[in-house]
Amino acid sequence: MADEPVRGDPHSHYVPGQPKMTNVEWWVEVNFKQHVLKCRAHIQFDAAGETTLDLRDISILSFEDENFEQLHYTQLPSHSVLGGGIQFVVPESREIWIWYSTSPNASGLQWLTPEQTSGKRHPFMFTQGQCLHTRSFLPCQDTPEVRFTFSAKITILKELRAVMGAHLIGRFEGGSKEAMSAVDEWIMRQPIPAYLVSLAVGELEARDITDRCRVYAEHEMVEAAANEFKDIGRVMGVAERLAGPYEWERFDMLVLPPSFPYGGMENPRLAFLSPTIVVGDCSMTYVVWHELAHSWTGNLITNSNWGDFWLNEGWTTWFEWRLLEALFGEDEVSLHIAVQYRDLYRDLKRLTESGKGAWTKLRVALTCDDDLDDVFSHVPYSKGAHFIRELELAVGRESFDKFVRRYIERFRFTSISTQKFLDFVAEELPGALDRVGFTDWVDGIGMPGNTSLIISEKARVAMADAEYEVVPIETRSWSPLQWVLYLQSLSRNVPASYGKQLEQFGLAHIPNIEVRWSYLLLCLEIGYRDEIIQQEVESLLTTVGRMKYILPLYRAAVKCPEWLDWAREVFDRARSGYHPIAVAQIERIFKEVV
Ligand code: BES
Ligand code: ZN
Repeated sequence: MADEPVRGDPHSHYVPGQPKMTNVEWWVEVNFKQHVLKCRAHIQFDAAGETTLDLRDISILSFEDENFEQLHYTQLPSHSVLGGGIQFVVPESREIWIWYSTSPNASGLQWLTPEQTSGKRHPFMFTQGQCLHTRSFLPCQDTPEVRFTFSAKITILKELRAVMGAHLIGRFEGGSKEAMSAVDEWIMRQPIPAYLVSLAVGELEARDITDRCRVYAEHEMVEAAANEFKDIGRVMGVAERLAGPYEWERFDMLVLPPSFPYGGMENPRLAFLSPTIVVGDCSMTYVVWHELAHSWTGNLITNSNWGDFWLNEGWTTWFEWRLLEALFGEDEVSLHIAVQYRDLYRDLKRLTESGKGAWTKLRVALTCDDDLDDVFSHVPYSKGAHFIRELELAVGRESFDKFVRRYIERFRFTSISTQKFLDFVAEELPGALDRVGFTDWVDGIGMPGNTSLIISEKARVAMADAEYEVVPIETRSWSPLQWVLYLQSLSRNVPASYGKQLEQFGLAHIPNIEVRWSYLLLCLEIGYRDEIIQQEVESLLTTVGRMKYILPLYRAAVKCPEWLDWAREVFDRARSGYHPIAVAQIERIFKEVV
């Protein structure tokens, strides 16, 4: 098949064909007083000639060649989604030096005061690169099409520790100009796209779980986290049998403070995780398995463009299902799939109603004006995973698993488009694409009608109670997921008093946040207003920053005239604890009301 024309990534200033960055040596001084990183970056390229770097809210202090002579650069006009860029000529030496400082408003950094941590003694800082935020702390070719290696020296106060998604070289104390500081040195030898560069600084402790997995967290959390994730060794074994050898040496985990805006982020070698998944009963460890699965699907094979995001998330969700199946059996997966199916339908409705039906395709034609944090939904996850599963069902598991190995072997450490994936399937599994009606999946709006859903007994019970709009009777044996499925499946047309009837189950105070959130959201959506509900929603919104929970609660609250002012007031109070990405999303929710 003919090669696709080189299109480039609409979300980067980098133009295909220009010299690519191949390695960065990065020096970072973490300044908690000013909320800035003071940095020097030594960037190497694969060729000399004119090229471009993305950057947002970064002040360049000096831009030099290998002899420390100033190099000329042109600033590109700043764009609301892309941010700025610089254009320059890479000298024959193929290297440049940039001295720069980040802004206190950098979209990819969150700075926490000691009060916002569990220990309350020291401040905390962490990065979030995906999708377009690495450019706010490192000038780079911020497109998944370019991969580079790096090394980093992070200067911090001695009481703190800097961790990165990289290999630890060591810690160096004393001898530096300030006796108060230490330098943590890291190196990443496997090339990764910019969105996977990660760094966190705080008062962190570590617990080893296996010889290649350890968890970092604050003192107050580290024991509970090590216990929650104790199965990780077994899960890695299952994953390797399915997808081939784990290529990143270590799989460590970092549990962040509650403001972390995601459940998890697959930073290679060091998954970033929300403390909301440490619930004591391992019911939410699937988030960790999901981030682990990205080590193959996403981090080894990367979407070349954010319009092909489903290649990262759909494949990974499919992989997550296979891990859950191997560990807990088909019943559990079916429940899990059913819950995600609800999430998907909620998003399909929201996107279609707001005129964004085109974002419900798997292959999305994006332009630079589409803000990726807005495009984000369950579509690439669930619809993507169902598409992969249909392919698996069409050819049978044995052939499909062989195909998975070949796919990873063929494309490891590269970035691919949906078209490249389709071409590969056409070659390796002749006829399979047509059998599943692939165009409806890939380029069609919404869900195709031919999805094969297997509904387990547990899922059936929860959904039937919801469908007949009855308050369940026999719930003692219900698992957290069964509750979530029931609460999410219940029609939003039930009378508000339904919220009251469900109170007998103590759902408003249940420690499992997923169940509590599903109940609180239901109450807001059916208009059940009660002091307890209000208090619990408020408490969730002011202590947790995970967008999966807080955005739907804000969306539901602003729809209700009696809740609107209260929601604004809660946001004002909670805002300083939220990540800049979350703040931007919530502001948009309020803006759309008027
Ligand atoms: N890569 C995502 C998180 C992400 C997506 C960050 C888009 C920025 C932009 C991560 O792998 C993820 O999907 N996390 C989920 C976990 C879940 C689906 C098990 C989350 O955070 O809820
Ligand atoms: Zn993911």
